[in-house]
Amino acid sequence: MYYPDELVEEVRMKNDIVDVVSGYVKIQKKGSSYFGLCPFHNEKSPSFSVSPSRQMYYCFGCGAGGNVFTFVMEYENYSFPEAIKHLAQKAGVSLPEAEYTEEMKKKESKRSRLLEVNKEAAKYFFYQLRSDKGKDGYGYLRKRQLSDETIKKFGLGFANVSSDDLVKYLKSKGYEDKLIQEAGLASFDEKYGMHDKFWNRVMFPIQDINHRVIGFGGRVMGDAKPKYLNSPETMVFDKSRNLYGLNYARTSRKNNIILCEGYMDVIAMHQAGFTQAVASLGTAFTEGQASLLKRYTEEVILAYDSDGAGTTAALRAIGILKEAGLTGKVLNLEPYKDPDEFIKNKGTEAFEERIKAAENSFFFEIRMLQRDYDLNDPESKTKFYREIAKKLCGFSEEVERDNYIQAVADKYAIGVQNLKKLVLSYAAQTGFAKPAERPKSGIQKKNTPEESRKKSQRLLLTWLVEEPPLYHKIKKYISTDDFTEDLYKKVAERLFADLEQNTMNPAAIISLFSDEEEQREAASVFNTKLNELTTRGEQEKAFHDIVLAVKRNSYEYFSQQLGSDVSALNQVIAGKKALEELSKTHISLD
Ligand code: UTP
Ligand code: MN
Repeated sequence: MYYPDELVEEVRMKNDIVDVVSGYVKIQKKGSSYFGLCPFHNEKSPSFSVSPSRQMYYCFGCGAGGNVFTFVMEYENYSFPEAIKHLAQKAGVSLPEAEYTEEMKKKESKRSRLLEVNKEAAKYFFYQLRSDKGKDGYGYLRKRQLSDETIKKFGLGFANVSSDDLVKYLKSKGYEDKLIQEAGLASFDEKYGMHDKFWNRVMFPIQDINHRVIGFGGRVMGDAKPKYLNSPETMVFDKSRNLYGLNYARTSRKNNIILCEGYMDVIAMHQAGFTQAVASLGTAFTEGQASLLKRYTEEVILAYDSDGAGTTAALRAIGILKEAGLTGKVLNLEPYKDPDEFIKNKGTEAFEERIKAAENSFFFEIRMLQRDYDLNDPESKTKFYREIAKKLCGFSEEVERDNYIQAVADKYAIGVQNLKKLVLSYAAQTGFAKPAERPKSGIQKKNTPEESRKKSQRLLLTWLVEEPPLYHKIKKYISTDDFTEDLYKKVAERLFADLEQNTMNPAAIISLFSDEEEQREAASVFNTKLNELTTRGEQEKAFHDIVLAVKRNSYEYFSQQLGSDVSALNQVIAGKKALEELSKTHISLD
């Protein structure tokens, strides 16, 4: 364990899950639980629930679930010890130095070593920018009108023209070749040995929402290719789940977020006071990034380049925003190419005006569509109207659809009734848009023998959680050794001990696991809904079957180990007896 169990439990108890979650997600009380929009997947109606009595959360849409630690780990991208530290600080609990087992140390240290080496590299680049060797880089950034304050805020730096100075520096600080390579800062070559990845570039450290450097983008001086070189994905750098500038934008307190394409654009906007600007990381905008944005805003303003590629990317992004339930708007930057150039030429106020005038994304789509048609030609015009009608079918909610029909009809001088008819005729063929499909719950898995073994063990635990008195009826037949799955065995050990005292503490059981996936799986024991069986008789049969299945599985499991393991013999003998008895015994649920 990283910290003593009692301390982990103290930190957990001093952080009420409803309080903590409310700091991140809008939740409302409904019955004995709180509900809100799940921050871990895209959705429009709330399936995310928080239970104050269990001190757990669960999403019926995506299966995310756990206790207050799991939540902070998932939301803030923290490891277990980081989550403990964070919540301890919040609640004013002081922590001793953590104790690590070898295995945990390895895993934890890999992540933190990668973050450390990135931070050290960022420091080195930052220093280089101000040294003699960094003159070109500094001159370049100043020429692009960045102030010293801005350069500092974004931690910009320079990778100079020597090809292995970073490697040398990092090695002198005690980082090994392998780690430096894994961080994507250098590569190894038979001929040249270890050499820096970034060379003669101004460096943009990419930070996660907690200001930790997770990777870099480097812009070349002059016209060489590629213009921007980015770090590869690593254990700490997931390009589809981070956004450049979000560490600042998340606290900007504006009522929108501006999404653009370039690092320079983000920086220029922040310098001009538009601190809500973010950019994707040299890759196309993703669903993961949309759900990340959804945590901080409802409206996203697209400030993509005004060229063809930018327009195509904007149209793609609009679809993703819509799926995520975000309102999209599009900024017109004409006659300039990107936000950076616009602000340089027109200034802050003009940019503010453009933000106010940002176009509703649906009208933007229609306007882009229109470019393919000739409205002076009746045939082409008709086709254009048909396309509009098809697009209008994308609004599944009638009120919203009608509002758009009205607005589009006005804008393009089409008769409202005609357009409505056209929309309905398309809907008759294809139907209106269906609500976005929910991702499969993490607990619905395939039907392999292994899965069904796991399933019966999980279900038995769920039964005991739902109806604790049953424990005293089955404890004669089932022991914690019957749980052959490590994770469930660990849960059972704690749960049985609790039930023996007639108590139960689900949230504490989850803290037994340090891995987010394991926490989620352990949480599923407490969140699985048992089939709604109608009669008590059916329920009794179902429960009996589950107990029997768990026992039989454990009997078979230990029988297989006979010969290699003497201690299994006792298990087998006892198991056989219990099995025979169980199959004849009626366990009443009342
Ligand atoms: P742009 O080429 O539009 O960059 O690429 P920019 O911000 O206008 O560049 P400046 O103003 O000339 O410096 C936008 C983004 O696309 C990614 C980078 O993330 C860049 O910020 N990109 C671009 C690459 O990853 N590689 C490239 O070669 C070019
Ligand atoms: Mn630019």
